[in-house]
Amino acid sequence: MGLRALTRETLLSPGDFVLPLFLHDLEVDEVIPSMPGCRRWSLDGMVKEVGEALAVGVPAVVLFPAVDHSLKTKRGEECFNYEGLVQRAIRALKSAYPELVVMTDVALDPYNIDGHDGIVEEGEILNDETIEMLCKQAVSQAEAGADIIAPSDMMDGRVGALRGALDTAGYQKVSICSYTAKYASAYYGPFRGALGSAPKSGDKKSYQMDPSNRREALRELLLDEDEGADIVMVKPAGAYLDIISDLREHTTLPVAAYQVSGEYLMIKSASAEGWICEESVMMESLIAIKRAGADMILTYFAKEAARLLRE
Ligand code: PBG
Repeated sequence: MGLRALTRETLLSPGDFVLPLFLHDLEVDEVIPSMPGCRRWSLDGMVKEVGEALAVGVPAVVLFPAVDHSLKTKRGEECFNYEGLVQRAIRALKSAYPELVVMTDVALDPYNIDGHDGIVEEGEILNDETIEMLCKQAVSQAEAGADIIAPSDMMDGRVGALRGALDTAGYQKVSICSYTAKYASAYYGPFRGALGSAPKSGDKKSYQMDPSNRREALRELLLDEDEGADIVMVKPAGAYLDIISDLREHTTLPVAAYQVSGEYLMIKSASAEGWICEESVMMESLIAIKRAGADMILTYFAKEAARLLRE
C-alpha cells in the first residue's frame, strides 16, 4: 500500500476537472435522455449544481447554451447579446461564486441556423466573417466575467484575432484556451443532440481535423502558440492519447483534454447494462488522460469523480 503510494506516477485530483454544463432559457431543469446524468439547466438550477461541484473541489465549469430556435440566424448575432443566455449565466455564476473559473465556448453552432461553427454561404464556411463574429462573442463573454475563452470552432487565425480583440477591449487578463487539435469526431453525436446543434447539411470536416492525422496536431500547436494561446486542448481525449502526449512533449503551455459526450456515454450505457463497473472504468479513463499528459480534463464525470477522490 505505502510502496504503491510512494511510486505512483500519476495522481488525479478534483482540481484537475472542468465540468461542462448545458443551459437553456427555461425555469425548469430538464433531463437529457441521450445524456444520462446530465441536464439542461435553468439559471437557478445551474447555480445550485455549480455550488455542489465547488463543494467537492471542482474549480471550473464550461458553458454550452441550448439557444431557442427563434433566436438562430444565418450569422448568429445572438452570440454577442449582452442579455444572451450565456452572458446572463456567467454573471449569475460570478456573483454567486467569485472564485469559480468560468470557461466559455466560442463558436457559432448554438446560434447559427445552419448548425455550423461558422457562417455558411452557398455551402462554404466563411472563415474571415466568422472570426469577426467570434471576436464580438468573446468580448461580450469577457465583459460578463468569463475567465477563459475557449474557441472550439477551429477557424484559421482565430486565436490571434481573439487575443487582439480581447486586449483592445481591455481584457488582457482573460485567457484563451484553444481547441488546438479538435478532430472531426463521431464521438460528439450525443452533445449535438443535447443542444439541437447538429449541422443541417454537410459535416465539420472542412474545419475539424482528420482522425488519421497526428503531425498536423503539432502544426496546429505551433500556430496557436504563435497566436498567443494560453492553454491548448485536444478533443476527444480517450481515442487521442497519443495527441495529448505529443502536445505535452512539445509545449510548455498547459494542455487540456476534453472527454466528450460519446466517451462519457459509452461508459454510462455499458455500466447501466451491468457490463462494466462504472466507477472503475470512469477513474481508469480519467487517469489515462492525465497520464498521457493532460493538466486539466473537461469531463461530464467531474462531480462524480471528484466525490470519489475525496472519499
Ligand atoms: C461545438 C462543440 C462541440 C462540442 C463542444 N463544442 C460539438 C461539435 O464540434 O459539433 C462537443 C462536446 C461533446 O461531444 O461533449 N462548438
